[in-house]
Amino acid sequence: MKQPFSCALETEAFVPNDPKNQPRNRWSGEWALITGASAGIGWELAKQLAAAGVHMVLTARRTDRLQKLAAELSTKHGVNVEVFTADLTRSDAPGEIHAFTSRKNLEIELLINNAGFGAFGYNHEIPEDRLLEMVQVNCSAVVHLTRLYVPAMVERRHGDVLIVASTAAFQAVPFNSVYAATKAFDLLFAEGISEELRPLGVNVCALCPGPTTTEFQQVAQQPDRTFKVAETAEKVARVGLEGLAKGKSYVISGAMNRLMMESERLAPRRFVAKMAAKMMRPEGS
Ligand SMILES: NC(=O)c1ccc[n+]([C@@H]2O[C@H](COP(=O)([O-])OP(=O)(O)OC[C@H]3O[C@@H](n4cnc5c(N)ncnc54)[C@H](OP(=O)(O)O)[C@@H]3O)[C@@H](O)[C@H]2O)c1
Repeated sequence: MKQPFSCALETEAFVPNDPKNQPRNRWSGEWALITGASAGIGWELAKQLAAAGVHMVLTARRTDRLQKLAAELSTKHGVNVEVFTADLTRSDAPGEIHAFTSRKNLEIELLINNAGFGAFGYNHEIPEDRLLEMVQVNCSAVVHLTRLYVPAMVERRHGDVLIVASTAAFQAVPFNSVYAATKAFDLLFAEGISEELRPLGVNVCALCPGPTTTEFQQVAQQPDRTFKVAETAEKVARVGLEGLAKGKSYVISGAMNRLMMESERLAPRRFVAKMAAKMMRPEGS
């Protein structure tokens, strides 16, 4: 059980580098729920949490991958791992996930809303279903799962929520317009409820990675030139867990990404969007 964390939040006496604020000690023996655990950042989050002794529910669409990861983590680290297959484009999927954890009497102490995807290209040429599914997975499912799991955390006066946003949340990203808008939603949602919930003992943090080497680029069909300086999923996952453990309401992974995102705020919004368009414009258009 993890009383030290809730005490720290209630008194707001967060001490950086305090061992109790390291992921290894913070969630050990607790249950986490990770969406999008079948690949990339979610897969790495699962590995790092399992190494810290955290039990977990893994969810995504690809059951075979989740089962393989679950077997690997439980054998290697002796943690309990449950798998629940769910397609978050379906609006009733969050409710089914919640019903599964309730049936099993699992007290979810750490909710990680990680599942998400993008779609590169002219917005008017991307199939409308794909765009609406993106809003469903990247935004609606995040709101729904958070709404389902937070009340029990508030009741217990402790719990944590990590929402994977993006550096794309900080500005318009032409040719990835809906994706950037969904991530801006995630960031603002996380920052908002972070302030609502902190006094109630629940910690919420938006993790904002820049380009990261995962399956994301392939799924979004995004060209290589937009992914020049990519971080590893291992590093991004670590930054996210540390940021959450430190009580941050958002954390940007990577010093260069941080510098760019924070300095961008001083530039005119139209200028930033134009620069992004220049970088992202599909070749030959
Ligand atoms: N990679 C980057 O450059 C980058 C940068 C900033 C932010 N992010 C964010 O990081 C998060 C994780 O992405 P990633 O980079 O790790 O990409 P990834 O390797 O493509 O992994 C995406 C995960 O989301 C799951 N997912 C996608 N659609 C789903 C659906 N309909 N229902 C349930 N699960 C679904 C996938 O599982 P299944 O396919 O098995 O369902 C997979 O586990 C996303 O929210 C993304 O927006 C990524």
